[in-house]
Amino acid sequence: MTGMALHAVDLIRKKRDGEELTREEIRFLVEGAAQETIPEEQLSAWLMAVFLRGLTLAELDTLTTAMRFSGEVLDHTGLGRKTVDKHSTGGVGDKTSFLVAPIAAAAGLADPMISGRALGHTGGTLDKLESIPGYRTGLSLSEMRTVLEKCGASIVGQTKNLVPADRKLYSLRDRTATVENPYLICASIMSKKLAAGLDALVIDVKTGSGAFLRDEDQARYLAALMVETGERAGTRTVTVLTDMSQPLGRMAGNWVEIAEAVQLLQGGRPALSEDLREVSLILAGWMIFLGGKAHSAEEGKRIAEEKLTDGTALRIFREMVAAQGGDLKAIDAGMGFHQPHFRREFRASRGGYFVAADCTKVGWAVQRLGAGREKAGEPVEAHAGLEMHVKLGSKVEAGQVLATLFAQEESRFAEPEQLLTEALTIGDAPAAPPPLVREIISAENKDSYLKAGHRP
Ligand code: URA
Repeated sequence: MTGMALHAVDLIRKKRDGEELTREEIRFLVEGAAQETIPEEQLSAWLMAVFLRGLTLAELDTLTTAMRFSGEVLDHTGLGRKTVDKHSTGGVGDKTSFLVAPIAAAAGLADPMISGRALGHTGGTLDKLESIPGYRTGLSLSEMRTVLEKCGASIVGQTKNLVPADRKLYSLRDRTATVENPYLICASIMSKKLAAGLDALVIDVKTGSGAFLRDEDQARYLAALMVETGERAGTRTVTVLTDMSQPLGRMAGNWVEIAEAVQLLQGGRPALSEDLREVSLILAGWMIFLGGKAHSAEEGKRIAEEKLTDGTALRIFREMVAAQGGDLKAIDAGMGFHQPHFRREFRASRGGYFVAADCTKVGWAVQRLGAGREKAGEPVEAHAGLEMHVKLGSKVEAGQVLATLFAQEESRFAEPEQLLTEALTIGDAPAAPPPLVREIISAENKDSYLKAGHRP
């Protein structure tokens, strides 16, 4: 076929019929997405064909690489520190980034973290950071470099030129019900992470009722795909499968999540934030190990805890916020700076045990309170969100407050209250809370999960 003109319609048909596309064909589609020379209906049809038919590992590798090089790529030469990052597949109340980035920097690494906005029912790191008055997420690459040199960590948004193919494909996936697919999630995340020029990467793969891939076997397959893709590209990659069957920590929203993270950085140990602290230390431990600052992930975790408890991580977080224009008075005030116009208590309708949560519905409740957006580009409310007062397994009394909701308009409460009524299940018998960390998938054990394959 080399030399002959390619036509998107032929490639859609080929994938629709379950055939493997060549490198040239995949590159043609990715270039067409990045340069907007292939119309949206054809890209969407191809995405749906991939969603239904899947990709071979060779196709996935070509897709990720073509997306990675569809725009500019970062180069951290001369920084004098290894670059290590953590990425999550998306969750509710997931604020580990605000802990692990300064902890990794405190351990002598650099974390150039490029983050996203609220997506579907999941929260967005950038939206949370922008609830800090003055904080700039839209740094240029040279500004980011300056912050990295000074603080060792910088959390910013995607620039216009970083992986433009994903920008296009992602917005189409969001509108065409093609998000929840391991190949497409892998290519989307890994193309951005590899373009960021990292030495090592730790991915928090969420599983459970609040994850994009709820099924644990599917989450394992996604994890193995990301390890395979990262290692093939020369970036040490480890995935940690963590529980997302309830919000992580006790806060979900924008400012409230920053405040919870700051409380932990300040040495606070609220009982309902212990899961957040533990997951953050495990992820940071892997970052420190892969970055060569510890002999094992366990030793890395010990170093991480030291950097958290001795205040170094807090100092670095404050420096990073200040370097990116954020107001330290708000940071230091934490929940004292929380300014929702309205609060509403959500109570248990009966006594018993908190046995199950549909965490996706909890996530939608948070977004509908105003923390997320219906359409790309809409503003979000900095002080919308909720605080959970129970964890799975807790005994509850009838009428006990299960959550406090925060919103800027009173009319925002009705839908989230309904969602929480459906989402939180009180049962008669106690049930053990799910384990926080399900598994570590790395180069050593990925192959057995790759062999297990994916069920569309
Ligand atoms: N995050 C991403 O960047 N892409 C996905 O496909 C899912 C989560």
